Amino acid sequence: MRKKIVAGNWKMHKNAEQTEDLLNELIAKMPTETDAQVIVAPTFVNLASAVDHLEFTNIDVAAQNVHQAEAGAFTGEISADMLKSVGVNTVILGHSERRAIFHETDALIANKVDTALEHDMTVIFCFGEELKDRQSKSHFNIVENQLKDGLFHIQANQWENVVLAYEPVWAIGTGETASPEQAQEMHEFIRQTVRTAFGIEIADNVSILYGGSVKPDNAKEIFSKPDVDGGLIGGAALKAEDFVAIVKAI
Ligand code: PGA
Repeated sequence: MRKKIVAGNWKMHKNAEQTEDLLNELIAKMPTETDAQVIVAPTFVNLASAVDHLEFTNIDVAAQNVHQAEAGAFTGEISADMLKSVGVNTVILGHSERRAIFHETDALIANKVDTALEHDMTVIFCFGEELKDRQSKSHFNIVENQLKDGLFHIQANQWENVVLAYEPVWAIGTGETASPEQAQEMHEFIRQTVRTAFGIEIADNVSILYGGSVKPDNAKEIFSKPDVDGGLIGGAALKAEDFVAIVKAI
């Protein structure tokens, strides 16, 4: 059975004190009984304290990135071993901001996927088309290629540590969300693509999250679609009330 997941990507927001405040608010407001796995992804410098803070809660912690190498002369980078050593077992990879602003290619992301999986981390693999791709009706092609080039080299048994996050770039941080029908159409296509390459069991079991301007008032409808297993939330993850409302919507 695939899991329902709501993950908050905090991006480059919240200093140490603000991180603690938001976590306290989340702990206070989060329903204790929920079907969904709840994940938050603060910035690197606040990961260790977030793990400590959330130790006896049902909220997990993810990193927003990892370097592909084990260690070495890579000024400013963070390794999988470092993340694991502070209790972080999940990492978001391939986010569109990493692709667009930091020039991460499918090949580089594939490398990072390998490193994370070798360290027994769970990978939240992000991908999605740009507006021009949708306008030229190449969005299915783009999505298929991102999956094939960044992820489909993995072994069948590694899929249990993979979560997919479809995030159309035109919907990220824009307030414009894919309609529930557009999300379902793409999620169905993604599951079918996984099924063709890896078989029905893996396709049925992999969670596919939707991301892009999910808010309390549209979450329920998007999550009600059969192939949408949760959300990767940006802006609305920064307000406890909104994030908790989105968790409740699932
Ligand atoms: P958004 O971001 O919810 O602010 O659109 C989603 C994301 O970037 O993961």
